[in-house]
This record gives sequence, structure tokens and C-alpha cells, in this order.
Amino acid sequence: MPEVDPVVHDRTTESTSTIGSTSTGVSTPGHAIVVGILAALAGLMFGLDTGVIAGALRFIGNDFNASPRTQEWIVSSMMAAAAVGSLIAGTISFRFGRRRALLGSSILFLVGSLISALAPSVALLIIGRIFLGFAVGIAAFTAPLYISEVSAVAQRGSMIACYQLMMTGGIFLSYVTDGMLAHGAHWRWMLGLMTVPATVFLIGCLFLPDSPRWLMMRGEKLRARKVMRYLRPSPQQADREISDIATELTRGRSEGLSFFRHNANFRRSVGLGIVLQIMQQLTGINVLMYYAPKVFQAANFGVSAAGWATALIGLINLVATCVAIVTVDRWGRRPLLLLSCAIMTGSMLLAGGLVEYGGHDTVAQIAMVGSLLVFVLGFAIGAGPLVWTLCAEIQPLRGRDFGIVCSTFTNWATNWAVSNTFLSVLDTLGEAHTFWLFAGMNALFIVITLFYVPETKGVSLEDIESHLLAGWPLRDLGAHALPGASGASPRPSR
Ligand code: BGC
Repeated sequence: MPEVDPVVHDRTTESTSTIGSTSTGVSTPGHAIVVGILAALAGLMFGLDTGVIAGALRFIGNDFNASPRTQEWIVSSMMAAAAVGSLIAGTISFRFGRRRALLGSSILFLVGSLISALAPSVALLIIGRIFLGFAVGIAAFTAPLYISEVSAVAQRGSMIACYQLMMTGGIFLSYVTDGMLAHGAHWRWMLGLMTVPATVFLIGCLFLPDSPRWLMMRGEKLRARKVMRYLRPSPQQADREISDIATELTRGRSEGLSFFRHNANFRRSVGLGIVLQIMQQLTGINVLMYYAPKVFQAANFGVSAAGWATALIGLINLVATCVAIVTVDRWGRRPLLLLSCAIMTGSMLLAGGLVEYGGHDTVAQIAMVGSLLVFVLGFAIGAGPLVWTLCAEIQPLRGRDFGIVCSTFTNWATNWAVSNTFLSVLDTLGEAHTFWLFAGMNALFIVITLFYVPETKGVSLEDIESHLLAGWPLRDLGAHALPGASGASPRPSR
């Protein structure tokens, strides 16, 4: 057992005494990793719930005799609720703490999964999806924040990457279970199975300690130090980090809205975050994530083949995300993002061409799956993970929470708009023109990247912030000197 401090005993020691503590009372760095992984289960839930609808939708449509418009609502109600959830997540995780916010989201995951699996009508199914949406919105904001606050600096990057991996892993797993259950059209089982990981996540949340940084923000220094000592390998390291947090907190709290209203440079970084998230959704990724079996069936695939082709998409998404995690700090953000958008543009053009001119034989079908797999690969090596990374990197400390809430909300709102209109667009434009429309959006993303996206590789957050606040062009935020500037020290003063 770690030493028990009466001050922390009420909540944190219940958790700390259970997560791998040793009988000698000596803490290990493993504690922070276990705690981080438990929180990253939120990513798994997020992925499972976004992915599962792809395979279930067709059977739900048949059972309830749902029109394409109703099906759009079944899919997109979750995204609309996630948008609202992400807006209130900041307040919830600030007021009640990250741990309770995650616990609340795990309960919503469980209840939402149960309601949607048992729903006797479309209305109840949509209510279940709304519960899941709130859960996803709250968890998607809180989990990365919590993980970054409990992890040691050396592990922080990989722990946040672990969260993203869990998310794509969740999408993949849900496609596999959808594929296995597709044969008997068991959509209730597809949705109901989600209660198992939801329960594991809920139990995991009960064992999480409060975030030391959050405790410090509330002025609970003793408790914060106790948790930090549990999470770090040595008391010295823990105490050092606690005093760093204390120093940082004296520099002032996040200003959010008032900073946004009064600082034009902050408005630029918030604007860039919003544009990046809109463009990420307009790539068309979630059309595939949610409607892939439908897209494949429109291209004359059988029920089972469409299910397995979808699972393959999930697998490529997962594997390519690993590639991005390994390469992003070597290749840099801009080259990866440009490559990613170019691949997506090309593959969407090809997919449209195959539908329009490719015929219905096996070769055309294989080429179609191939082009969509290449599209997902393109997304996962760049636009997927990098947009999230950039959105966090470009915001100045004083407005970081506000900036991230704005871009996360935009992600879900655009996600909702795309998933709520896709089937109608498909109906109006036809499959080929819909693919070409997305090709055009991806080409536009290339232009935006060329003109506005900075290279932030290897640049400290403090430097990015000082460049932004000194009015440097967005594209140059990560530059060491302004292009064309003369003199030894072209950097703006801090
Ligand atoms: C996007 C999600 C998408 C997921 C697919 C994320 O980066 O924001 O909308 O479903 O990637 O892996």
C-alpha cells in the first residue's frame, strides 16, 4: 500500500491502493502508465461507438423500415450530442474534476448502449445515440486532458498517442464484430456488446485518482502532492512537478472568451483550429467510417463482402495511425499533411471514376476497395491525427482550453453536418459526383495547408505562442526567423 494520508484517503487512496501498488509503499512509474491506459479506454469507447453504426445501420433500416433521411438522423444524432458534450466538457471537468467527468461519461456510455440495443422504436434508438454522443463529447475532451496531466513528461507523447490508437482500435474492433454478426442481421447484439467495454471503462474510472493539476487549481496542494507521489517514481520528482505546477498557476488562469475578444492574434489561432477541423471532416472520412457498407453495396458488393471490406478499412486506419505516430516528429506536420491530402484527392477522384466508368465486374470492385483503402491510409497518416495535434499546438497557454473547445466543437458539428446529409447528397448527386465533391474538398485542403499551416515539428510551444502573439503569419509560426527578415534576431521579444 502507498502511505495513506488522511487528507487524500476519501477518494484517491481507494484508487491508489488498488492500482498495482506494492506492499513496500514504494511507487513505480508504472502507476502513471496504468492510470493513463485506464483513461485511454475512453478512446476505445469513442472508437467502438463511432464505428459500430456502420455495420448495424442497414439492418436497423430494414427492421424499422427507416427512410434514408431517418437513417441519417440515427447516425448523426450522436455527433450532434457529441458537439454539445464537447462544449460542456470543459466546464464539467473543471468544476467536478477530470475523474468525475470520465466516470460520468462511462455511465452515459453504459446507459446509451443499453437503450440503443433494446430500443423498440427509432425514437428510443435516437435517444440512446444521444446518450452515447454526450459520453463521447465529454470523454473525447477530458481523457486526453487527464492523460496529459497524470503522465510524466517523458511518456506524455506516447500516452496521448495511445489514446488515439485506442480510438482507431475501437473503430476496427467494432467493424470486426459487425462483420461477424452481419450474417444473422444481429444489429441489437452489435449495439448491445458495447455494454461490455463500457462496464470495464466504468470500473476502471472508479480506480482513477484525481488529476494532481486539477487538485492544485482548486488549492488542494496536500492531496495533489499525495497523488503525484503515487504517480511518480520518486518523491523528489513528484515534489518538483508540484512546485512547477504551482509556479505556472501563479502566472494566471486561462482567460478564454475575454482573451478571444481582445486579442486579434488569438482569434487567428482559434480560426485556424476551426478551419482545420472543418477541412478534416470535409475530407469525407466519416462517410466511410459510418456508411462504408452502404458505399460498398452501392458498388455491388454482397452483404458479407461489404462487411469484411469495411473491417479492412478499420484495419488500415489502425495500422496507418501507428505509422503517423512514428513519423510525425521525423517528417514534420506540413509534408505529412500535404502528402495525406494529395493521396485523399487522388483516391477520391479514382473512386468516382470507377463508379462512373468502371463497370460492375470483380476487377472494378477490387479497384474500388483499393481506392477507398488508399483514401483511409491517406487520412490516417496525416489529416486524422495531425489536425488534433496542430489544434493543441497552435493555441497560446492563456487560451488553450478555450481554443481546443472551439476546434473540438467544430469537429463534431461538421461531423454531424456531413453525416446528416451524406445519404441525401448521394441521392441527389449520385455516387461518382459525391466522390468528386470530396476530391475537390481535399484539393482545397492542400491549398489551405500550403498557405496557412505552420511546421511545428521540434518547436517549443512557448516559441509558437510568442510568434503568434507577435503577429507572425500563421504559416510561419514554427519558423526560427521570419522569411525575408534581416538582422541577427528577427524573433519578436517575449
Ligand atoms: C476524426 C474522426 C474520425 C476518426 C477516424 C478522427 O481524427 O476526427 O471524425 O472518425 O479520425 O479515425
